Amino acid sequence: MQVKWEEIDHYARQWIREAGARIRATFAEKLTVETKSHRNDLVTNVDRETERFFIENIRKTFPDHRVLGEEGFGDNITTLEGIVWIIDPIDGTMNFVHQQRNFAISIGVFEKGVGMLGYVYDVVQDELYAARKGEGAFLNDKPLSPLEPVSVSEALISLNATWVTENKRIDPSVLAPLVKDARGMRSYGSAALEMAYVAAGRLDAYITMRLSPWDFAGGLVLVQEVGGIVTNLYGEPLRLLERNSVFVSKPGLHEEILKKYIHH
Ligand code: IPD
Ligand code: CA
Ligand code: CA
Repeated sequence: MQVKWEEIDHYARQWIREAGARIRATFAEKLTVETKSHRNDLVTNVDRETERFFIENIRKTFPDHRVLGEEGFGDNITTLEGIVWIIDPIDGTMNFVHQQRNFAISIGVFEKGVGMLGYVYDVVQDELYAARKGEGAFLNDKPLSPLEPVSVSEALISLNATWVTENKRIDPSVLAPLVKDARGMRSYGSAALEMAYVAAGRLDAYITMRLSPWDFAGGLVLVQEVGGIVTNLYGEPLRLLERNSVFVSKPGLHEEILKKYIHH
């Protein structure tokens, strides 16, 4: 049977906007904040309620679709058969709790492992970044332009300071020269927004050492749709059901960083 992507896209946008309005309405209420894997890994009642909202709607409307959600209300996904929604109800929970800004709803919809729809919704700015495979990417109703190559010396790159200090995942001396050579560095604390910013040309690259599928699923579709490159730190494709290092970049810049800074 032919998959009706237009219909799925229509519902996804509607639910995202509705979930965003619900999240904004919680700013006036008291949050319940808990920790998960460690003391800085936060989750709130709003993360959980938002994920449930999506899953209930998806199950009602598309009963044969499956869902992988960060907060665990979805299905136990071990294969990428059929249509799978990968959902992060709030990406940037620490920002949500501390700042009430700089967080996003992130959703990617995959068919047999191929990214078909991607969304990152900046709830506070009311900016919906959305892409449909082969149909382009948009910021609200404005089409995003294909990404043009840029060199490191002119690049604005997003990188968390963790990766240039002592850490478990990478020798800090690997990325320090990139920090010196780039035009500027940024760090926003929401992987989904940082990927959306690359898609929109607000950042030239984003590098991080460990993300879960729900952190990058929406951004992956967005960035690929405007000709950006999404790989792990070694230039290999991301694995959708595992944690990965993630290196998102404009074309040209991706090769330059891999060759000069990572493979040395
Ligand atoms: C986090 C954010 C953050 C990234 C972390 C993620 P969460 O997601 O994307 O930018 O550095 O690795 O866990 O927990 O706020 O959904
Ligand atoms: Ca996340
Ligand atoms: Ca989250």
